[in-house]
Amino acid sequence: MPHDPGPTGRDDDQMDWVPAPDEIRRIGLAKALREVTAPHHRRAEKSGVISDVVRGRATRAGYALLLRNFHAVYGAIERGLERHKASPAVRLIALPEMYRAGAIGRDIATLYGGAEAAQAVPLLPEGEHYAEVVAEAAEGDGVGLIGHAYTRYLGDMSGGQTVSRVLADTLGLDADARNLYDFASLGALEPFKIRYREALDRAAFETDRPDAILTAAMRAFDLNIALFWAVQNAVGGASAPADDPAPVGSA
Ligand code: HEM
Repeated sequence: MPHDPGPTGRDDDQMDWVPAPDEIRRIGLAKALREVTAPHHRRAEKSGVISDVVRGRATRAGYALLLRNFHAVYGAIERGLERHKASPAVRLIALPEMYRAGAIGRDIATLYGGAEAAQAVPLLPEGEHYAEVVAEAAEGDGVGLIGHAYTRYLGDMSGGQTVSRVLADTLGLDADARNLYDFASLGALEPFKIRYREALDRAAFETDRPDAILTAAMRAFDLNIALFWAVQNAVGGASAPADDPAPVGSA
């Protein structure tokens, strides 16, 4: 069967190619994001601690360490979005009701037995690096933040909902350790995701650099993947089976 490269005309051997700005606007930024990050998504699902979680092999310590590092990352994303909330493009996706740093803070306090105990756990270099890259994206016009926000928030609203159920079933985590995935205040998730994708599409018309959003999203996936492997290594988690991709180095 012929291979369909999809609406952006790219396929897996063109990993970091992105369409030109006018082409992105024609396709729609949301569709372009999904398309260019699809190979990265396939890798992310199979990487390190996230793969352990999905297969019911994660430990409480591993998941807590992931959240400890996510806390720094989401803090950087959300500070950046607030900083640029007057920007015509960024303001479209700077939605405080989606912000997760507070929710993650409550989860890690539950898992580590208090906020102070959680803060005392050092960040991994990969988590620190991810947060630094986000902070760099917040410099200048800040449009790269849109790619970082897309990668985490739509992920939390999509596969994250499965992750939440698996964490409850396999690690017995209560709701007070799974606030990250609780978007009840947004109402029904599917209509919200549709509106979020429409906002992404509009954002591409409010910047002359929509291609920078795609590049930032691909980078965000790579930073997630590096973090997932680092967390797994740090807690001595399950080793990758032979058919898993090799761990990628620091992104
Ligand atoms: C744990 C394993 C994962 C599973 C089972 C999973 C599953 C899914 C599914 C089923 C969707 C489609 C939902 C929809 O169309 O409404 C989706 C979308 C998405 N996921 Fe994941 N995912 C996983 C991990 C991740 C990770 C680790 C990230 C980020 C690093 C991520 C980021 C995203 C994003 C950004 C989307 C939105 C794609 C789009 O429609 O543009 N996912 N995921």
